Amino acid sequence: GGPVNEDLKREAAAMALLEVRPGMKLGLGTGSTARHFVDLLGAKVAQGFECLCVPTSEATAAQARSLNIPLTDLESLPHLDMTVDGADEIGPGLALIKGGGGALLREKIVAAASDRMVVIADATKLVDTLGRFPLPIEVNPFGLGATQIELTRILKEFDAEGGLSLRHDKAGKTFVTDGGHYIFDASFGRISQPKALSDALLEVPGVVQHGLFLGLCKRAYVAGADGIKTYDA
Ligand code: A5P
Repeated sequence: GGPVNEDLKREAAAMALLEVRPGMKLGLGTGSTARHFVDLLGAKVAQGFECLCVPTSEATAAQARSLNIPLTDLESLPHLDMTVDGADEIGPGLALIKGGGGALLREKIVAAASDRMVVIADATKLVDTLGRFPLPIEVNPFGLGATQIELTRILKEFDAEGGLSLRHDKAGKTFVTDGGHYIFDASFGRISQPKALSDALLEVPGVVQHGLFLGLCKRAYVAGADGIKTYDA
């Protein structure tokens, strides 16, 4: 978004930063909003603040390294205090759609390994019903055609308004995730039964993960023109 939107994202990021205590083990999200949080954390680290972080993407890892934020991985540090990340949609009960930036798998692994997931966003991300934002579904390249048939069946079963599209990068090549997988974006329009949809998607052998984050987010800081609102799950 424009400069105003960037200000709102940064305000939400600053709220999450207030939750960070010395020595905390943190998951670092991916995307333009999480980027603000990493920037602000980097400024704190430059002043001697201690923390240890696990990034959710190669992009975030590169940003954090450039700011001298100490990084590790879930092999050395399997349990984190808190993950701060953005979202593409925030729905009722703090159910989320994530993965617009393609980092959903690592984001979900890191969030699930954290005591607490805190989402930061501008108010455009709040929705009454999830699904207007196309749901990212990460799939193994092997058996792509078979997986696509299964996913098409599920879209129909869940009354999707649109179809499936294999994600491409700006150069027109098939988008490849950090984990070496592909992404289908599924245009549901509205997702009235997120849990049932999640279960159905995870039944498909070629599906690695999907962007529905259910029961993971504990708090959201949402910045709008009228200030910042805090939502707790
Ligand atoms: C990355 O895969 C996504 O889950 C992002 O967290 C999401 O797309 C939000 O990104 P922005 O903060 O750039 O909107």
